[in-house]
Amino acid sequence: MGKVLIFGNAKGGVGKSTSATALSSILADRGFRTLLIDCDTQCNSTDTYRADSEGAATVYDVLLDENRIDICEAIQHTECGDILAGDSLLRQADDKLKNSVDGLYRMADALENCTGYDYIVIDTAPAMNSILHNCLIAADEVIIPVTADRYALQGLSQLFETIRAIRRRQNPDLKIAGLLLTKYNDRTNLSKEVRNSIDKVAAEIGTKVFGTVIRECVKVKEAQAIKETLIRYAPKCTAAEDYVRFTDELIGNVPVEH
Ligand SMILES: Nc1ncnc2c1ncn2[C@@H]1O[C@H](COP(=O)(O)OP(=O)(O)OP(=O)(O)O)[C@@H](O)[C@H]1O
Ligand SMILES: [Mg+2]
Repeated sequence: MGKVLIFGNAKGGVGKSTSATALSSILADRGFRTLLIDCDTQCNSTDTYRADSEGAATVYDVLLDENRIDICEAIQHTECGDILAGDSLLRQADDKLKNSVDGLYRMADALENCTGYDYIVIDTAPAMNSILHNCLIAADEVIIPVTADRYALQGLSQLFETIRAIRRRQNPDLKIAGLLLTKYNDRTNLSKEVRNSIDKVAAEIGTKVFGTVIRECVKVKEAQAIKETLIRYAPKCTAAEDYVRFTDELIGNVPVEH
């Protein structure tokens, strides 16, 4: 199985979906066999990939449906790359999973059958729910997007506690790849104080802040509005450049080996 990377932060609107779709599409463009999984009921990543979350099999059918289907049968092959679509029915996940002995391991089990990918990138919802727990148990690394502002760290302690608990019991190798500063605006430069506190929190949890910062860029919203990946819509814009550099920083600027 390939490396499983998840974007997580229970805070809404910090750039999880933008970052997940950017990373997965850059990896696919580089020739890596890449699967994007959308675990959010809002289906933003699914929309960006122009995949189908209603008429086709989705992450719900793989993780929660009574007649669960094999993940390989549910993957959609789009122009942007392979995706397991999100589903608004994921809202039922907490109720459905809580009485099940394997309720926390559905994603890990599904991914076991998912050989043949170099990278699996998972976008998650702005929530601390059982689907996030499933993802953290199945993941190799978590990337935590944070907006570059005074409230960047709000709510993160609960995520760190959850990660610690999951490391203790279910997934000892789970790594926090780093905090990724998003929507960064030079003109309203981060005060030294805020930057220091973000660095300090990263150090406290044994991780780093990525050196690459994703700049605020109007093309991100434009791309989203017309359901395009940022890299296809505006490959030369500042945020696209930043995501390419972020990808290099995350995996190294390495050629594909197949
Ligand atoms: N670098 C950027 N520059 C400008 N706008 C951005 C940037 N990154 C994200 N945005 C915008 O911010 C909003 C939130 O981004 P996104 O949907 O990626 O966040 P999210 O964490 O996935 O949100 P949610 O928690 O609701 O799933 C979107 O409207 C998106 O277009
Ligand atoms: Mg999102």
